[in-house]
Amino acid sequence: MKFIEQDVKEVLVSSEQIEERSMELAAVLEKDYADKDPIFLCLLNGALPFMATLVKKIRTHIEFQCVKVSSYSGTESTGSVSFGSFDVNKIKNRDVVIVEDIVDTGLTIKKVTEYLYSLGAKSVEVVTLLDKPSRREVEVKPKYVGFVVPNLFVIGFGLDYNEKYRNLPYVGVLKEEAI
Ligand code: IMP
Repeated sequence: MKFIEQDVKEVLVSSEQIEERSMELAAVLEKDYADKDPIFLCLLNGALPFMATLVKKIRTHIEFQCVKVSSYSGTESTGSVSFGSFDVNKIKNRDVVIVEDIVDTGLTIKKVTEYLYSLGAKSVEVVTLLDKPSRREVEVKPKYVGFVVPNLFVIGFGLDYNEKYRNLPYVGVLKEEAI
């Protein structure tokens, strides 16, 4: 039996750090959306583990939905974003919080934000587990950030390399021989 951990060169963000930071982010989101009726939108597949961790720590009423968004193949951005189906009628006049795994070039978040406003969202903010600002190609600034990471290709806690390693319980860097 081969464990996926064997392909990991280095742990960048541990599961304990993710737990702790998610607790802090949940507390801030509770406050910021206390008088609103927010809808959290999880961008599948990458944000699924973070979404599950985060929403269970929020003690106020929220709604959530998931939408499949594809923007990557291998380690390079394809530059185009495609959306799967979700209940678009839920977005009109709502305060939307996009839940993302990582903001890299910023293209995905930009496209998703524009799309949500075109559906009539009242406000759109982003909570992301990771931010890689050094790679930005468009001007976007996620309001709620778990951890800023350096310009490295990372995997785990939802993040994949060709659909693998999403189930690692932490964020890490792959060994060269695994790529
Ligand atoms: P962006 O559109 O370039 O900001 O990229 C957003 C998407 O690219 C994320 O939701 C990830 O799915 C993927 N991505 C960006 N950087 C990484 C990485 O280091 N590892 C794995 N996936 C990444």
